[in-house]
Amino acid sequence: MAPPPARSPASGPRRRALLFPLLLLPLLLLLLHLASSPSPRPLPAPRKPSQACDYSAGEWVRDASAGPAIRYDHTCKEIFKGWNCIANAKANGRDLLRWRWRPTGAGCDLPRLDPRRFLERHRDTNIGFVGDSLNRNMFVSLVCMLRGVTGEVCKWRPAGADRGFTFLRYNLTVAYHRTNLLVRYGRWSASPNGGPLESLGYKQGYRVDVDIPDQTWVESCSFHDVLIFNTGHWWWAPSKLDPIQSPMLFFEKGKPVLPPLLPSAGLDLALQHMITFVNKAMGPNALKFFRTQSPRHFEGGDWNEGGSCQRKQPLSSEEVEEFFSLDNNGTNVEARLVNKHLMKALEQSTFRVLDITRMSEFRADAHPSTTGGKKHDDCMHWCLPGLTDTWNDLLAVNLEAVES
Ligand SMILES: *[C@@H]1O[C@H](CO)[C@@H](O)[C@H](O)[C@H]1NC(C)=O
Ligand SMILES: *[C@@H]1O[C@H](CO)[C@@H](O)[C@H](O)[C@H]1NC(C)=O
Repeated sequence: MAPPPARSPASGPRRRALLFPLLLLPLLLLLLHLASSPSPRPLPAPRKPSQACDYSAGEWVRDASAGPAIRYDHTCKEIFKGWNCIANAKANGRDLLRWRWRPTGAGCDLPRLDPRRFLERHRDTNIGFVGDSLNRNMFVSLVCMLRGVTGEVCKWRPAGADRGFTFLRYNLTVAYHRTNLLVRYGRWSASPNGGPLESLGYKQGYRVDVDIPDQTWVESCSFHDVLIFNTGHWWWAPSKLDPIQSPMLFFEKGKPVLPPLLPSAGLDLALQHMITFVNKAMGPNALKFFRTQSPRHFEGGDWNEGGSCQRKQPLSSEEVEEFFSLDNNGTNVEARLVNKHLMKALEQSTFRVLDITRMSEFRADAHPSTTGGKKHDDCMHWCLPGLTDTWNDLLAVNLEAVES
């Protein structure tokens, strides 16, 4: 782990003073202009507070402007290879950037995150993403947007993070803490001495401690000023946590929960405990967000059944319902199921909800698909640049609403 970085040395002004007598007038003017941009400057007037706006309802519209304004491109080094749709020559890799989310509410616009403004506003701040690879996808998007305006970064792993960056000129740290279930889990197998689970016939599975936070983020609560949590996919992940071959066996206070719970009930317990934990562990001024479930778009089968996502356009509202309504019980039904559990748990909490589900449900076109570099199509993660940039627009507008 690297030591906390200090501010960058202020060598700029001194060098400028030495050059001063040598400069011709036009050059001087140019230099003054350049020098003024990265240093503190008056911020634009605060935007309309977002409380009045429901950004979750809306539609995707094609941006009619000259060309897609690139926020960052495939050269951002932090993009995980399988998500780099432009570099991987996904047919619509660049076309994805032409779509803008237009919220339904009158006068409600979701502005694009302005990286320089974001850096200025969040000086001396630590922002952490805690969750599965979909939160990493969002983290990378934010890092790439911010790196686009300032290259002076220190890469390190604060407070148990998987990865993190400090933007040195602003002393802003953004980090990703990897955790699949939020709570601790590990392999379990029957003890020869027997026990309550053994006597019910369990031979092996995963022990999930619903009241113990994963160690990858336990320290993040005292380090970060802003945390964005997520969990969901792994509670419905038959590949690893197969309900028959390797069931989730829930433990509370070190003892098995009896009778054994289904994953959906285990999720409720885990959320309850983790919300309580975070409330105690974070300071009163800290901001806690919970991001809602990111939908998948497998068609013609699930990920391990040859399912794919080859659409080139966002879905229509009718198609969205066909994909995701609970009544249809389709391949990707878990998105709204997870949200039901999240909403129930968050109802009485002080967490703010970052509701990205609806806007994302439309975007069957925005996954890496066959260009994800896996044996199966990736219809779960998102191309970068792409949809999770809009999630960060939503984060930025929420942060502004809270802080102004
Ligand atoms: C950087 O920000 C942290 C708070 O996140 C603060 O504790 C620290 O003093 C700051 N460092 C400098 C050099 O300003
Ligand atoms: C939904 O479909 C799955 C199989 O795809 C099935 O196992 C499950 O029982 C169905 N659930 C409901 C509520 O119909």
